[in-house]
Amino acid sequence: CGDKIALTPPMGWNSWNCFAGEVSADKVKRAADAMVKSDLVNHGWAYVNIDDFWQNHRDSKDESLRGRFRDDAGNIIPNARFKDIKELADYVHGLGLKIGLYSSPGPWTCGGCAGSYGYEKQDAETYAKWGFDYLKYDWCSYGNVINGMPNNDPYKVSSLSYKGGNELPTAKAPFSLMGKFLQEQPRDIIFSLCQYGMSDVWKWGDSVGGSCWRTTNDITDTWSSVSSIALAQDKAAPYAKPGNWNDPDMLVLGTVGWGNPHASKLKPDEQYLHFSLWSLFSAPLLIGCDMEKLDDFTLNLLTNDEVIAVNQDALGKQAICQLKKGDLRIYVKELEDRSHAVGFCNFGLEPIDMPFSDFQQLGLTGKLKVRDLWRQKDITKLDTRKDKLSVKVPAHGVLLLKFDCIK
Ligand code: DGJ
Repeated sequence: CGDKIALTPPMGWNSWNCFAGEVSADKVKRAADAMVKSDLVNHGWAYVNIDDFWQNHRDSKDESLRGRFRDDAGNIIPNARFKDIKELADYVHGLGLKIGLYSSPGPWTCGGCAGSYGYEKQDAETYAKWGFDYLKYDWCSYGNVINGMPNNDPYKVSSLSYKGGNELPTAKAPFSLMGKFLQEQPRDIIFSLCQYGMSDVWKWGDSVGGSCWRTTNDITDTWSSVSSIALAQDKAAPYAKPGNWNDPDMLVLGTVGWGNPHASKLKPDEQYLHFSLWSLFSAPLLIGCDMEKLDDFTLNLLTNDEVIAVNQDALGKQAICQLKKGDLRIYVKELEDRSHAVGFCNFGLEPIDMPFSDFQQLGLTGKLKVRDLWRQKDITKLDTRKDKLSVKVPAHGVLLLKFDCIK
């Protein structure tokens, strides 16, 4: 039983939602610079994670690199946009931040770049040598392996890339292989499993060395995406604990959209709800937006220390929906100091305004003081046996409260 890492959910940035196939060392450096300049670094944000497309692509336009994915010794070759990846890692570390990388257990990544199949040990060693602190390992093209397809032909990629993903031994095998090699490295490397919740990954992710695992499909900056992902998290909740986190995917706030940069299509109240739920879920918090375009509203969302403290609470519990009243879902997260964070979440289109007294059903008893975490204000004291709380929640919005015993 190795030492646990990621004792609280990782917090950082990921390149996918804003740069996708256009990610470059320069853009990653600028994202890291922005994390420091915006002061996010002083609110717990630390990881700068490169997603897909740092390796050579099977359709590389650069003639000299086409078809050349590894050197003669089998070492993976970064693409022309990542000329000196060790220098990039040093640069990010020099800012006091950590850096993450991405690969796939199949021969090809989801985007069609070189994956790690057959080179798992060598790649783990390379990542450690370069100084990486985080690896996202994305299931794509493992179908080639399962289906016995030729791995050396870049144009033969199994369209059935998910096939076999629900059979447990097949789903676990590639992750346990890479997990073992990462653990052998002389540095802590967070291992993020990405196979979209197939095979109930939350039940076995820990056993293959995973620090976190995606529970659901890719997120987009729409209400239907965020709300449907949010509503699918409860089943995995019992498996969250320090060192092991359920990952509902990136935060779709700020300026997102590759090729088509735009402000998140989530309305402001939806963004409060999104960030509150991800905090209540003890989810990895990975900013998906262009870090150089952080506006004041987004910065406010990302720097509320009392809300972040809910996410980073050392007890490591994941909130579940304890009570439903129409469109109102009430999520409760028990915190280390025995207080409770409670999200009154309105999934409906009408504002909610109701007197609330079902405290027992939320596990809240005795005399409590109540604090509004987004506003950072104590709002009332109440006796759970006889008092009512006025609960006002905008449409698609949240009231995020902390209930603490009056000592
Ligand atoms: C699928 C993942 O779910 C995304 O987050 C992203 O990593 C892409 N693959 C990259 O191709």
